[in-house]
Amino acid sequence: MQQEGGIKIYPSVLAADMGRLKEMAQAAAAAGADGLHLDIMDGYFVNNISMGFDLISDLRSVTNLPISVHLMVMWPEWYIPRCAEKGADTILFHVEARSEIETALRVARRMGSRVGLVLNPETPAESAVPHLGLCDEILCMSVHPGFGGQVFIESVLYKIRLIRKEFPQGIVSVDGGLDADTSAKAVECGADLLYLGTYLFKAQNMAATIANLRKQCRRADA
Ligand code: DX5
Ligand code: ZN
Repeated sequence: MQQEGGIKIYPSVLAADMGRLKEMAQAAAAAGADGLHLDIMDGYFVNNISMGFDLISDLRSVTNLPISVHLMVMWPEWYIPRCAEKGADTILFHVEARSEIETALRVARRMGSRVGLVLNPETPAESAVPHLGLCDEILCMSVHPGFGGQVFIESVLYKIRLIRKEFPQGIVSVDGGLDADTSAKAVECGADLLYLGTYLFKAQNMAATIANLRKQCRRADA
């Protein structure tokens, strides 16, 4: 089920020490991460504000890791061009946002970015299905978006299976409450890209934690 090269692991920098972000990005690369995940919020789509667009280019200047930007904003279409210009490789926005979905997907594709839709835990798989042809990735939120450190919502596993079935060639990713156990469950259901904040940035040894995650996920996918 997995993409060539196995499961992809992207640390979510929301859980990193914001005062040492460049150093943390380099540490994630050294620990074997496949990319970085950046959560951008507008304080309106979710009840929180995190980081701004300049951080994309700041991180781009210190690492070659692919950067995936998760837009938790009400009007993604307004911000997609800026994310692409700043160096985002993948731009993900919510199917529950207000922008017309296909217009926003096309804007991102025109900018040369990979693009994906994000589904909140309660949002059914069916809301993404009509748009799969324009998507490189579907991200299933396994917590309510806006904050790190929450508990994984198990009922999302069923949706991961459904999306995998409908989207055999695409990337199915998961974000929120992931650790070694919940990652293995998500991979067993067909996920091939995992975004982990707390579990990786609060780990004593990120390299060993990533290596162990890969082992657990390989087992789950066997
Ligand atoms: C939550 C964010 C996540 C968050 C995950 O809205 O989208 O990317 O950083 O954090 P953990 O892994 O701590 O749940
Ligand atoms: Zn995220």
